[in-house]
Amino acid sequence: MNPLSNLAVRDIETLVHPYTNLDQFRQSGPLVIERGKGVYVYDVEGKAYIEGMAGLWCTALGYGNEELVEAAAAQMRKLPFGHLFNGRSHDPAIELAERLKELAPVPVSKVFFCNSGSEANDSQVKLVWYMNNALGRPRKKKIISRQKAYHGVTIASASLTGLANNQTDFDLPIASVLHTACPHHYHFARDGESEEEFSARLAHELDELILREGPDTVAAFIAEPVMGAGGVLVPPAGYFDKIAEVCRRHDVFMIADEVICGFGRLGTMFGSSAVGFTPDSISVAKALSSAYLPIAAVMVPAAMYDAMLAESRKIGTFGHGFTYSGHPVSAAVALKALEIYARDRIVDQVSAKAPAFQARLHALAGHPLVGEARGLGLIGGIELVADRRTKRPFDPKLGVAARCVREAEAEGLIVRALAGDTISLCPPLIITPAEIEDLFDRLARALDRTLDWAVRDKLVQI
Ligand SMILES: Cc1ncc(COP(=O)(O)O)c(C=O)c1O
Repeated sequence: MNPLSNLAVRDIETLVHPYTNLDQFRQSGPLVIERGKGVYVYDVEGKAYIEGMAGLWCTALGYGNEELVEAAAAQMRKLPFGHLFNGRSHDPAIELAERLKELAPVPVSKVFFCNSGSEANDSQVKLVWYMNNALGRPRKKKIISRQKAYHGVTIASASLTGLANNQTDFDLPIASVLHTACPHHYHFARDGESEEEFSARLAHELDELILREGPDTVAAFIAEPVMGAGGVLVPPAGYFDKIAEVCRRHDVFMIADEVICGFGRLGTMFGSSAVGFTPDSISVAKALSSAYLPIAAVMVPAAMYDAMLAESRKIGTFGHGFTYSGHPVSAAVALKALEIYARDRIVDQVSAKAPAFQARLHALAGHPLVGEARGLGLIGGIELVADRRTKRPFDPKLGVAARCVREAEAEGLIVRALAGDTISLCPPLIITPAEIEDLFDRLARALDRTLDWAVRDKLVQI
């Protein structure tokens, strides 16, 4: 939109935008989206865009889903707010917890509700600490995450996140969080190292880290099934089997962050099942309500719940929870979303559409700007490099991926630039085969125009 338009000026003078270069933004101004329908969103000037990122990896059922709207309106009329503190309850939270227990890929004893992925992962950390205090092992508190992981931005979850921009000058990470190697074969495997060998080496490095720190001080390991904001990184063959063997040996609790991968994204209800990961506990958010309202959850296993029970008996209460934990309107919308996933066989549909999506994605690996194309199910990333042979990245200051995002916007496609010049794709799960083709046609044109610019400015040689 015209940056001098009234809304743009008001925005620049009033809003702090997350994940935005606040200085550049004062010149560029916002893209103001007004409405959405299906996989399309429309800006204030009426221009249509394919929402190739499902918002922030979250609007699984697309825009304008009347059933979700109706579920919210009905619950608003009936009980617009209810809480779960001091033993109070309401039927949407009870029913949603039951449903999540049925769907979970591992045994779940109880469900703890919160409002965001960050809160879920923060709660995971606190629950692990609480559990180990209850179990009489007060030293076993360190949490191992991975470089390039994304687990959120609150103090504990931003510490779990392994990306510089979320930590630099925020005085993070906190001391009890450690990071092990990122499982990205393209960049971090040694010459000639197979995926299995790479996985074995990373598991060995994890083992060494735990031994160095002392197994009696390491409480948990957290991982996304496919890493999202770190660059859409699909784990190498054998990775989770080998990592799990190390964690089990040292009695390290395993947490799956299913905030992006949960509810069908990888072609399975939970992403863990698609990548051979069997966690102890799970964080979910985003697609739980198709992002129509904020809601997230921690799925708590029996061993953890028993410890919580013992600890709260000792202290007199379980002193954790949010005003909006299990908010009845959010819970009603989430229940409706889960009903639609089941009724419309959304997960099967993702499996059916994924091969065409992945074929078009992987075909982009032949483009002169693309170093690697990677993905699984209906998620993908393409990494732009200055030299495909040596994998040499562009100088981040050139903003090559950001340029491609702008070219895509001109084509009527919303995608996102991640650190490391990766363009991510994560469309609503309801995208049709024809819309998938259209999405990739638009992206290919955006890439070509980015290439023209890069050649003109001598940023790349082809
Ligand atoms: C894997 C993962 N975990 C956690 C989060 C944090 O979620 P929120 O932004 O709702 O706090 C995100 C957000 O993108 C995510 O992708």
